[in-house]
Amino acid sequence: MTMNKADWTWFNGQLVPWDEAQVNVAAHVLHYGSSVFEGIRAYATDDGPAVFCLGPHVDRLFNSAKVYRIEIPYTKEEITQAITDTIKANGHGACYIRPLVFRGFDSLGIDPRSCPVEVAIITMEWGRYLGPEAIEQGVDVGVSSWQRMSPNTFPAAAKIGGQYINSQLIVMEAKNHGYTEGIALDANGFVSEGSGENIFVIKDGRILTPPLASSILQGVTRRCVITLAEDVGYDVWEELIPREVLYMADEVFFTGTAAEITPIRSIDHIPVGEGRRGPVTERLQTEFFGITSGQMPDRHGWLTPVS
Ligand SMILES: Cc1ncc(COP(=O)(O)O)c(C=O)c1O
Repeated sequence: MTMNKADWTWFNGQLVPWDEAQVNVAAHVLHYGSSVFEGIRAYATDDGPAVFCLGPHVDRLFNSAKVYRIEIPYTKEEITQAITDTIKANGHGACYIRPLVFRGFDSLGIDPRSCPVEVAIITMEWGRYLGPEAIEQGVDVGVSSWQRMSPNTFPAAAKIGGQYINSQLIVMEAKNHGYTEGIALDANGFVSEGSGENIFVIKDGRILTPPLASSILQGVTRRCVITLAEDVGYDVWEELIPREVLYMADEVFFTGTAAEITPIRSIDHIPVGEGRRGPVTERLQTEFFGITSGQMPDRHGWLTPVS
């Protein structure tokens, strides 16, 4: 998927032209994946762009940095301001926002702590992550031969750059097998998540999603979807999900900033339910897209207007 570059990137405290936001090839991050980051969306509304769940994303960035012992040289308020400044400078109606905190160059020793901490905020215009029809038609996915990391190997709940090698292996394998995305199991063989999405399973009117202990990233969209499901009268159960429940499910969908709410229509070539988007998924999409587009009241205060 190609992405168009924007005019400006916020880099270490100031807006610079996109092509000037550069690092040296000796930067620690290039060698060892020494970064933490976020993926955030700003949606187009009648009042201009509005950032979705800005506070929770900035909180997660700082939590990831804390786990990884990076001190971000800016406050949460400064990063928040920088995000809205970058969107404004680039004149986006809607966009994807990538705050990135990384270790630059000082040493190539494994201990990164002598390397400077650098911060960039990149914005770009971006469509549907899993393809233009995916939101209505659903996607075909497969269970990956790659598992998510075991507890106490990598901190799955922190969004750390180097960990995305695991996600890359999952999605490359899935595409090689003709799927749009892969579903990874956790180290105990229970369902964990997609390469860049959380997963929900609906069976006999119950909505299930794997718990944090299944090595998932605690998705911001996942939390919102749990809230929306409860708003419309469903209980959501965070519990261990055996693989075979995927094949027995009435509906399965992914959630994520990039994937939003994407139905899954088949898993390992077995149709999910009727093999198309189901009614619960559609109901939750209506709420989610209604709020993010500004067409429904923002009853949970999830949108931050940019102007
Ligand atoms: C591995 C992984 N899981 C889940 C998610 C979904 O998280 P969110 O809803 O915060 O975007 C993402 C996306 O950031 C991810 O990379």
